[in-house]
Amino acid sequence: MKVVNTIIELKSILDACREKGMSIGFVPTMGALHNGHASLVERSVSENDITVVSVFVNPTQFNDKNDLKNYPRTLDADCALLERVGAAVVFAPTVEEMYPTEDTRQFSFEPLDTVMEGACRPGHFNGVAQIVSKLFYAVEPHKAYFGEKDFQQLAIIREMVRRLAFNIEIVGCPIVREEDGLAMSSRNTLLSDDERERALTISSALFASADFAKVNTLAATKAFVEDMIDDTEGLELEYFQIVDGNTLQQIEEWGDSDYVVGCIALFCGNVRLIDNIKYKEVR
Ligand code: PAF
Repeated sequence: MKVVNTIIELKSILDACREKGMSIGFVPTMGALHNGHASLVERSVSENDITVVSVFVNPTQFNDKNDLKNYPRTLDADCALLERVGAAVVFAPTVEEMYPTEDTRQFSFEPLDTVMEGACRPGHFNGVAQIVSKLFYAVEPHKAYFGEKDFQQLAIIREMVRRLAFNIEIVGCPIVREEDGLAMSSRNTLLSDDERERALTISSALFASADFAKVNTLAATKAFVEDMIDDTEGLELEYFQIVDGNTLQQIEEWGDSDYVVGCIALFCGNVRLIDNIKYKEVR
């Protein structure tokens, strides 16, 4: 496995692979890797000749300076995990490498980016689009892999690829959970033992709501989840929205869409966590 820090080095490795007709899979990450990331890399390794993983904590997608400062950075452990799961190249650039000058591009993915995370974290998706587009130009992968935990991000990346006409297949991969149900996240390492215990209510509420939803209205299901979170000390709900999985707009009735997803964001102490559950997906 090669670890490179510059776009020039990266391109020279990947150009040689392309000349040999090899397919390139790409997994963009911000590091602090866990088994959720490992599953993306494993999927890419199984579907491509070589897999590139980027490890870069992207400053432009953080609207909170403290969040950026506290974001876990564990490059050595990340490389050990990536070697184990078969990544061929790790791209770990500096901020100056990715942003030699300020990126003044302004993306708008309305209405996808005006709701939920977009409403709570102004500028977040603009930063995500800035870095992911730069990484796509640098790597030029055939396929790129993203986790469904960041459900809104995945929808926005698909839209960005469509609008910028990138010739890249975006592969969405299922959420990976701890044995007790908590969705894997780099931010979980920031939870105290107490907070970790409380955070379990998130997945419990979502799983219980899937059963509840079978015999109750959408409004009652929304209230069911909100009440479970509100009743747990130490959790502060930011939003729970039941949306159309394609447009990300809230719906009123189960019959309003064939693809229905419940998306939640909350603070557990100072740690912001997100999760989601599919109520309906007719393919
Ligand atoms: O999902 C993430 O880890 C980040 O938003 C991404 C896609 C790597 C862009 O920085």
